[in-house]
Amino acid sequence: MSAKSKAKEVLEKYRRAGEISIETLKLAKKIVKPGANAYKIAQQLENFIREQGAKPAFPVNFSITNEAAHYSPEILDTRTVGKEDTIKIDLGAHIDGYIVDTAITINFNKNAQELTEISKEALDKAMEVVKAGVSVNDVGAIVEKTITSAGFQPVRNLSGHQIKRHVLHAGVSIPNHGPGHFKLKNHKFQKGGVYAIEPFATDGFGEIMNGKRTNIFRIVKKPNKGDIEKAKLIKKFLPHVGVLPFSPRFLFDEKMGKEGAAQINKEVRTLLRSGHVMGYPVLVEVNPDANVSQHEHTLIVKENSCEILTK
Ligand code: CO
Repeated sequence: MSAKSKAKEVLEKYRRAGEISIETLKLAKKIVKPGANAYKIAQQLENFIREQGAKPAFPVNFSITNEAAHYSPEILDTRTVGKEDTIKIDLGAHIDGYIVDTAITINFNKNAQELTEISKEALDKAMEVVKAGVSVNDVGAIVEKTITSAGFQPVRNLSGHQIKRHVLHAGVSIPNHGPGHFKLKNHKFQKGGVYAIEPFATDGFGEIMNGKRTNIFRIVKKPNKGDIEKAKLIKKFLPHVGVLPFSPRFLFDEKMGKEGAAQINKEVRTLLRSGHVMGYPVLVEVNPDANVSQHEHTLIVKENSCEILTK
């Protein structure tokens, strides 16, 4: 295959993954309602991604109110959407390792409506300036200015990210703040590069910390030679979870019942303790009473603009 037709094929996979993610978020808007069960919705959205011919690039994130990111329902999780919750649905789809990552906020709190809209406005404004050669810090400055002008804070220690095949966070970060906070690196958007931009806005401090629970994991290490127990476990996990972040739900089937669920959770903990799996704790706003909103798109950088894959 020529380099040109290979590039075209890759672009088609990205576009298809983008279309699938758009349809999946449309479904989310229909089914995320107060009283709905987070576990069932996450399962439904991930299955919808699979039915359309892609794979979840990571577990559906269902972060609620003061959680900014990385809450994904556990197996048979009984948590439901509250009447005044602000839900961040952040999902990824990939075809053959070509990943798109996109998020919306579905808000039921009338006091958080402006907050919900401001992260979208920040994202829209940021995407307008993206083209080859533009500094990622310019995006950070726009995000911060848009959000602080409305009286809110961006979450400064969360950022967007470059994406490469099979790699969700591929080195370059796209900050959600301008100069004057954390040290910034001066990366420039590369033509043909794929990036996710994801402003988070909050009425809290603008900073997140690790919460108590962890429900997203990733296999990071091969078993040592001779460690038959770990080799067996990893062999059981890999076909279900691959190299991208996973939820224990990916291995679960309702026929397994509660005992099966407990067994899977135990196996994940075993791999976590031995360092073969790493965990991503739920990220919560430092202010426990805060609300957080988020919007995210994945784009491909062009010479004079960008193509948004998830819009
Ligand atoms: Co992302």
